[in-house]
Amino acid sequence: MNINLQEKFAEQYHKKAEAIYFTPGRVNLIGEHIDYNGGLVMPCAISLGTWVAIAPNNDGKFRFKSLNFDIETAANSNTVNEKDGNIWANYPIGVINEFIKDGKEINGLDFLFYGNIPIGSGLSSSASIEIATAYALNVYYNLGYDKFELVKIAKRVENDFIGLNSGIMDQFAVTFGEKDKAIVLDCETLKYKMVDIDLGNYVLAIINTNKPRELADSKYNERVAECQAALKLLNEEITLHYLCELNAEKFALHSHLISDEILLNRATHVIKENDRVHLAAKALSGGDLTAFGRLMYASHESLRTLYEVSGKELDAIIDFCSGYKHVIGARMTGAGFGGCAIALVEKGCEEDFAKQLTDYYVAQIGYPAGIHISEIGGGPTTL
Ligand code: GLA
Repeated sequence: MNINLQEKFAEQYHKKAEAIYFTPGRVNLIGEHIDYNGGLVMPCAISLGTWVAIAPNNDGKFRFKSLNFDIETAANSNTVNEKDGNIWANYPIGVINEFIKDGKEINGLDFLFYGNIPIGSGLSSSASIEIATAYALNVYYNLGYDKFELVKIAKRVENDFIGLNSGIMDQFAVTFGEKDKAIVLDCETLKYKMVDIDLGNYVLAIINTNKPRELADSKYNERVAECQAALKLLNEEITLHYLCELNAEKFALHSHLISDEILLNRATHVIKENDRVHLAAKALSGGDLTAFGRLMYASHESLRTLYEVSGKELDAIIDFCSGYKHVIGARMTGAGFGGCAIALVEKGCEEDFAKQLTDYYVAQIGYPAGIHISEIGGGPTTL
């Protein structure tokens, strides 16, 4: 972090911060839009993230300031159960609300946040700020929640307080991430395993479309509802809790139950994407990056044509990558509708890649993309 948060805290609140905590953002290597369908995902934490500095106050209020936003706000334990308009501070407010509902006595805290994850870029800035708050409160007050509980608290905030019917992947990834490892997470059972990421002669590039995200939340909730509708149709013949209980072969036996083409496409993406993650996990642990890269392209194609969550900006990036000989795999990452893509770029070619991609993207889209070579970072820490 190139910012002295302690100094900034003193400027804002005229006292010293008592503690500073960090929580990362994440990318998902493969397994998109299947966490809420009980599937397997493969995210990892990145070195970009959210820092929060805190100190107690004597007036019983929670004060929220951020170096990223001008809007600041305050709440007390009676008002944290309501959203404050549409502002960023609803994430920490929602977390405090959950802690208070759970009987925890927290009262009177000043917060200063700073994040370097581009907002709305699909790198989980919201899960990062949720877990940053939950982790900070848990450590500061010694509340004794384990990591699974923090993840579930943050997911409840996202689902019930913010109103996005998201799965558990983002909160899990930013909490359980470890340096240079991917998490292979079964979103139905929450069983997970950490897999070494050895990219050999390649680096992981994150490419931000820089597209302003519009209507992403309502489109996301629409996809969740479509999957539920497909599941309901399949349940006329078999008993399933999640679409990902079927593999492609078994799905073929029952897909006739889904006559609506859009629902059929959505379910086909989910089930085949889940199969791809199983293959990708094998490829990664066996060091077969070429196979892994092919699965990344296949994942993107399915998200583009069957799940329809890509867009011309993300597609322009993937089109460029597939024609550029020093990239072995690329795909959109996260919810889509803009946000970021990831690519495996041959070491030593990063500069040329950035230059050529920039030229191509500007010619297609009219403004530049953001290109960042990423490290696979660790989980939340106390600084
Ligand atoms: C968002 C959601 C996640 C997941 C992804 C798509 O990031 O928060 O739960 O559904 O989209 O894979």
